[in-house]
Amino acid sequence: MENEKKQIAFSAIQPSGTITLGNYLGAIRNWVTMQDEYNCIYALADLHTITVRQDPAQMRKNILDAYASILACGIDTEKSLFFIQSHVHTHAEMAWVLDCYTQFGELSRMTQFKDKSAKHADNINAGLFTYPSLMAGDILLYQADKVPVGADQQQHIEITRDIATRFNGLYGNVFKIPEGFIPKNGARVMSLQDPTKKMSKSDENVNGCVHLLDSPEAIMRKFKRAITDSEAHVHYGEGKDGINNLMGIYSTITGLSFEQIEHDFEGKGYGDFKTAVGEAVVEELRPIRERYESYIKDKAYLEECYRKADEIALKISSRTMNKVMKKIGFIL
Ligand code: TRP
Repeated sequence: MENEKKQIAFSAIQPSGTITLGNYLGAIRNWVTMQDEYNCIYALADLHTITVRQDPAQMRKNILDAYASILACGIDTEKSLFFIQSHVHTHAEMAWVLDCYTQFGELSRMTQFKDKSAKHADNINAGLFTYPSLMAGDILLYQADKVPVGADQQQHIEITRDIATRFNGLYGNVFKIPEGFIPKNGARVMSLQDPTKKMSKSDENVNGCVHLLDSPEAIMRKFKRAITDSEAHVHYGEGKDGINNLMGIYSTITGLSFEQIEHDFEGKGYGDFKTAVGEAVVEELRPIRERYESYIKDKAYLEECYRKADEIALKISSRTMNKVMKKIGFIL
């Protein structure tokens, strides 16, 4: 964090169950590569998870598991901050303040709110509705320049910019206006069983979703059963969602272009290609699983990592928080 000239990148992920290959290739892998170019601040967004009802024991396990898993992906705690959102009290405070600068109408237009309230019709709570201002606070507290997120979070970046611009209009230049950033090699990974749908841990078919900590055998089995088409010719094209998805995964991991992959698998069948993709994924995830196994056994080490990061995050975010409180008219 010592290089002041680097831009600040902020991102967060919810610790709500296992991490999927989609989360890894779409987001976390980029968190790792961004560490040289940016001052990176990453959070485990545990406050966000309670918009949906959680079992307390399972939630504690999920938080620690996600922390150990993401660390195992290659977050360097010497270079980057990786903290737990609920441990840094400025996040909840900023969320309340920003709630009062966010309009009912603009929150009503959020597609994620509409989707989630349809899915959890029995629990459309106020937190689900105001979730974007909690997320805006996360970002704005750190004066972030760039926010690497998946396409599904772009609308939340837009509302963050709107809230920040509105606040700055009232009180002067308090917040840096952040930019969303969809990393160019961030694959959107689809279900292996229904490649028209995003890979999701809630897929009814267990073979549709690869988890970060799956055994090599499980990974190979899922790739071998991946849905393809009847053409038996490895190339990218319309109506070939299954093969397109496998090519995306393979290309992201190996760095090979689609043309190169098509060339390499010329005259080979889908069986060979699925095996190659499965093996590439197994080798990519093997060191991560091994590091995870050792971290999760060492709770003291994990605690040392997040306590240190929590403390620095509190210090940085308090500067923005105090400025905001003062500008509004609170007595500090
Ligand atoms: N809402 C994001 C998601 O569900 C997670 C998140 C919370 C986030 N706060 C953030 C992402 C701040 C980027 C920046 O994926």
